[in-house]
Amino acid sequence: MGFKVAIVGATGNVGREMLNILEERGFPIDEVVALASRRSLGTEVSFGDRTLKVKVLDTYDFSDTDLCIMSAGGNVSKEWSPKIGKQGCVVIDNSSAFRYDQDVPLIVPEVNPDAISLFTRKNIIANPNCSTAQLVVALKPLHDHARIKRVVVATYQSVSGAGKEGMDELFTQTRAVFVADPVEAKKFTKRIAFNVIPHIDVFMDDGFTKEEWKMVAETKKMLDPKIKLTATCVRVPVFIGHSEAVNIEFENPITADEAREILRDAPGCLVVDKREDGGYATPIDTAGEDATYISRIREDSTIDNGLSMWIVSDNLRKGAALNAVQIAELLVERGLITPKKKAA
Ligand SMILES: NC(=O)c1ccc[n+]([C@@H]2O[C@H](COP(=O)([O-])OP(=O)(O)OC[C@H]3O[C@@H](n4cnc5c(N)ncnc54)[C@H](OP(=O)(O)O)[C@@H]3O)[C@@H](O)[C@H]2O)c1
Repeated sequence: MGFKVAIVGATGNVGREMLNILEERGFPIDEVVALASRRSLGTEVSFGDRTLKVKVLDTYDFSDTDLCIMSAGGNVSKEWSPKIGKQGCVVIDNSSAFRYDQDVPLIVPEVNPDAISLFTRKNIIANPNCSTAQLVVALKPLHDHARIKRVVVATYQSVSGAGKEGMDELFTQTRAVFVADPVEAKKFTKRIAFNVIPHIDVFMDDGFTKEEWKMVAETKKMLDPKIKLTATCVRVPVFIGHSEAVNIEFENPITADEAREILRDAPGCLVVDKREDGGYATPIDTAGEDATYISRIREDSTIDNGLSMWIVSDNLRKGAALNAVQIAELLVERGLITPKKKAA
């Protein structure tokens, strides 16, 4: 017997990918319900070869639903996740609303699967920020080997990280440039077409942005509170796939060859690292793929035990939908969730 699963935000970038991945990976589902705002009432979304009519979140009763995957932003999650959890439905939340709550586990299954047992406190599990998810998948096996002291990361984040409005803005502005129409910036703070913007999420008092702060806080929560991390997060005119230039300082010696071998064997990682033209991964190579790609691994002789590398992944998959589905699979594998219908 399978589960009854609700997807909140089913019409969005992440929600649609979530439906694809649940189907692709054969998650044990008896019934899947697509939910969104009133704007989407009657809209249809695909689940494998089936078509689902979208229902409205506000009027949906979760009492016989086993699992709810939330992908509708922080405000919707803050209002709804606790109510849904109280109805005995386990929530996997893609927003940042509960990521830093001590009673909510923040999980990347390749990194900290054992922390999941904490979910019973609120019936909520948080999915990390897209840029953190791919980073910690690559950092974890290296940390286990040589203990990471400090990470310096610059991100090159695609517009799909800002939802479907972000993708529409890049498309519309690019077309406007070619036909010499006026270029309007609505979703992003400056023009994104043929430009890069060193600003994602709001500014904090110390001059960092919230996106940069999230990478610090989430790496500490999932991997090791002792790791020091500093980030510069940048939006680039790429539709799908976040890239990261990463410099890592370790406590113990580690060579580029050792790192390459470790990452080749690590779950979720794919090393593409030939020192020749095109011998590295770019965002287009990773779109629609599950792995976190690691390229350009090299020793940094300016610090003791230093490595630099390039990490790329599909932000809608490992950065959001795939990781959420892997969390759902972990709940099932560990027997932490059973279908309500069976229990009744
Ligand atoms: N994109 C990424 O790389 C990424 C990565 C990690 C986490 N996330 C998180 O995932 C969530 C969704 O991101 P996205 O990229 O899929 O955004 P999106 O494309 O803009 O989609 C947003 C979804 O939320 C729904 N929604 C908005 N307000 C709602 C309400 N009041 N009640 C019910 N549904 C509502 C929308 O439904 P309508 O169509 O009816 O408006 C739509 O389905 C966000 O929390 C985001 O931070 C995204």
